[in-house]
Amino acid sequence: MKSTLKIDKSKRVGALDRRIYGSFIEHLGRAVYNGIYEPTHKSADDKGFRGDVLSLINELNVPIVRYPGGNFVSGYNWEDGIGDKSKRPRKLDLAWFTIETNEVGIDEFQEWAKRANTDIMMAVNLGTRGADSARELIEYCNGETDTYFANLRRKNGFDKPFGIKLWCLGNEMDGWWQICHKTAEEYAREATETAKVLKWIDPSIELVACGSSDHNMPTYGEWERTVLDHTYDYIDYLSLHCYYGNYNGTADFLARAEDMDRFIKEIADICDEVKAKKNSDKAINLSFDEWNVWYRTKDEEKSAEKWQIAPHLLEEKYTFEDALLVGCMLSTLQNNCDRVKIACLAQLVNVIAPIMTENGGDAWKQTIFYPYMYASLYGNGEVLSVNASSDFYKSKEGWDIPYLCTSVVDNKEKGELVIFATNRSLDEDMELEISLDGYEDYSLVKHIELYNDDLDATNERHSERVFPTERAIDAGSSVKLKKHSWNMLILKK
Ligand code: AHR
Repeated sequence: MKSTLKIDKSKRVGALDRRIYGSFIEHLGRAVYNGIYEPTHKSADDKGFRGDVLSLINELNVPIVRYPGGNFVSGYNWEDGIGDKSKRPRKLDLAWFTIETNEVGIDEFQEWAKRANTDIMMAVNLGTRGADSARELIEYCNGETDTYFANLRRKNGFDKPFGIKLWCLGNEMDGWWQICHKTAEEYAREATETAKVLKWIDPSIELVACGSSDHNMPTYGEWERTVLDHTYDYIDYLSLHCYYGNYNGTADFLARAEDMDRFIKEIADICDEVKAKKNSDKAINLSFDEWNVWYRTKDEEKSAEKWQIAPHLLEEKYTFEDALLVGCMLSTLQNNCDRVKIACLAQLVNVIAPIMTENGGDAWKQTIFYPYMYASLYGNGEVLSVNASSDFYKSKEGWDIPYLCTSVVDNKEKGELVIFATNRSLDEDMELEISLDGYEDYSLVKHIELYNDDLDATNERHSERVFPTERAIDAGSSVKLKKHSWNMLILKK
């Protein structure tokens, strides 16, 4: 199959915000306990954080990590996780029906974030709590005044404020499963008042309001309109969440990146509709703060034994085809960088994650680790609006899905043009003809390929079947993309 990619220097989507390569750690299953934190592990540091996990995370160069949930945050009392560890209460977590020991809270997590070289995206509880506890939390984290909560932080050993700049106003409040789920009107009022007080305490922060937890929710669209109507002047971003699964075969599964693209565009349109209605100069941008493949372990908490500590929950074992879709979804996020400023691969360790651990044992990379790592390391700069042309196939909705899924990033600082390209054909290799306008002095210097004959191949503790390989570079302007492969091409001056 032949396809073409025309890259024109003058056609740009915009500057990419590195925060689209963010991720997420929730108090869920083994994400925190025996994931990032395991004091008895041989690689544990002075604070009990696993060094082997930290070094894998550092390979990913994750700019932000959302914390502490997720559904968990809607029943969380942040004060349970500060100060003397021996006095912290054990509590029932009604989001995942487990026991939360509170050994890790914001005191520890902000320390971990420094070691992981990342910033925190902090979520506040708008389920069982509201503006009152949120205002106390932000004073504890960011306060510089001689007042109770800022002093409590100092008393707990942290003179310097944590300086958390990005805050989420609750989590998935439209979902019936949420602890103290709300109607759009109820949430919109609470979010507005919480946003007001948070910004009064720290005007330097940015805020994310909850959009729909999925674009198939019955309240989808109307939820966003109501929330924006109330919160518009106080917030900076609206959230989107989406998880995909292979329910209709691989070809349709790989088409889900186009569904994500439509979802983003619909929400951007709603934001602009409210902007026009309000005659506002301010644009609300998007925070795609939960996205991934997740279907094999959905609803697992319902059948799991209740009230365990750090059980094995949502430990999705990722296949090679999952890595292909994650690669395509990263291209979708990059291609929408004019509106999507933040995104979080959900999640980071053990729970639907690129990194897996064994209690007391090894840590390893799942298949999805690789497209995520290459996007984060090489997909920096300005995204170009390219003209890509390839054959099409039909998705379950009857949409035309191009076999070629691509995004192109111009990294001026490094003098690199980086092409991410997935061949979605399950049986044909692709001859990709690249033409350059304005980059005539650039040539292909690197071709990284992620390929496996077996779409179901996984990476296990001691056997990595899915890993990147560097291909030899052929002279000429065309590149071969193997059938069902993810590729990164680097052109340099
Ligand atoms: O990431 C797992 C869960 O998915 C999160 O807790 C919730 O926000 C979403 O439904």
